[in-house]
Amino acid sequence: MSFLQAVNMDKIPSHVALIMDGNGRWAQAQGKSRMEGHVAGVETVRRITKAARRIGIRYLTLYAFSTENWGRPQEEVSALMGLLVKCLHNEMPLFMENGIRLRVIGQTEVFGPDVRAAMQEALDKTAANDKMDLVLALSYSARWELVRAARQIAEEAKAGTLAPENINADCINRHLATAFMPDPDLLIRTSGEQRISNFLLWQIAYSELYFSPVYWPDFDEEKFYEAVADFQQRDRRFGKIHSENPHKA
Ligand code: IPE
Ligand code: IPE
Ligand code: MG
Repeated sequence: MSFLQAVNMDKIPSHVALIMDGNGRWAQAQGKSRMEGHVAGVETVRRITKAARRIGIRYLTLYAFSTENWGRPQEEVSALMGLLVKCLHNEMPLFMENGIRLRVIGQTEVFGPDVRAAMQEALDKTAANDKMDLVLALSYSARWELVRAARQIAEEAKAGTLAPENINADCINRHLATAFMPDPDLLIRTSGEQRISNFLLWQIAYSELYFSPVYWPDFDEEKFYEAVADFQQRDRRFGKIHSENPHKA
């Protein structure tokens, strides 16, 4: 039986976030270069994007490159940038055929002109697509995002356009890169690591966490649906005593 049948189509999470980890270890285990692992990882991105669209997930956020990843060897960083540009170009039919709007969150100013141009083109071309938002976290870290929000809020307060008593959770949400979407319902990390690595720290306050032992290139539709089905069994109480799920005791 496919895990797709185990997925309750009436309870699809609106936002799934994914830490795509394990490309390097996958490659190493096969005697391949780390870059071959990243290339294989792109295939998984395509598979999971289609799978998410198929079950009607509205927002899919993928952690593709962290602020800290700039500290990797120059060759790996350059090769990843090249792969990103190629991908944005090659995946355009997938985005257009499936009504997928591309979004980017992160400090994109630091990318080279070729990467920025490819990103802008993909953002523009897909801007009218409205079935699913595919959100790429690129040069992203939650602390960068929170520092930026604090600075913007301070500037507004200094300019007199924001009163300190109006600084609340909604105000902070509006200053985050993720302001256009709800918080993740489900956060999945592959590769067996059980940590957050500076991803969406504010937004995951009440997300359900799911850790898969599988390296990202080996993660597939079945494993994705299995994670969604597992999420659907969770009892999300949000600090209250009653379950959000009326089907559970
Ligand atoms: C995730 O795979 C992709 C990026 C962070 C760009 P890794 O490259 O982190 O793979 P491992 O964790 O070394 O196996
Ligand atoms: C997290 O993976 C970042 C991305 C998946 C883009 P890392 O491989 O960079 O994280 P650590 O080093 O294991 O925490
Ligand atoms: Mg890693």
